[in-house]
Amino acid sequence: MEPRESTLVICKPDAVERGLVGEILARFERRGLRLVRAELRSISKETAAQHYAEHVGKPFYDSLISHITRSPALLAVVEGPEGTWQIVRQMMGATNPAQAAPGTVRGDLAVSMTENVIHGSDGPGSARREIGLFFPDLVQA
Ligand code: RTP
Ligand code: MG
Repeated sequence: MEPRESTLVICKPDAVERGLVGEILARFERRGLRLVRAELRSISKETAAQHYAEHVGKPFYDSLISHITRSPALLAVVEGPEGTWQIVRQMMGATNPAQAAPGTVRGDLAVSMTENVIHGSDGPGSARREIGLFFPDLVQA
């Protein structure tokens, strides 16, 4: 059987507040990716700091943590063929929505760098780490 790969998607608090979760998840489902877990959850400051550890000390770090923790986010694990993380990243569009191509999630739904509606793991290693952080029961020892 073809190998399967999972990646973490977060519909950030701005997406939940704006009622865009269905629209965002529907895009991945239409593409042919499968939802294996989805949960609305308030991310604690501690978990946010672990999730975004690579950004500690950067000028945007504080606003990044305040934004991701300000209200519930929709955490989702999305599964598909090998390279699924890349399919998701392409569909998300550039980090800065002002530069994101039309047709992408950010290019269609966002204008702000901080409130850019979605997170997706940036590689297979990040996907494993992030899924383990939010859904430890899904990661085999
Ligand atoms: P994410 O981690 O949220 O999926 O986004 P990303 O990989 O496309 O971008 P990353 O470099 O990991 O940055 C994480 C989030 O920090 C905010 N950011 N602000 N003001 C800035 O220069 C700046 N750079 C990044 C964005 O909200 C980005 O999604
Ligand atoms: Mg990132």
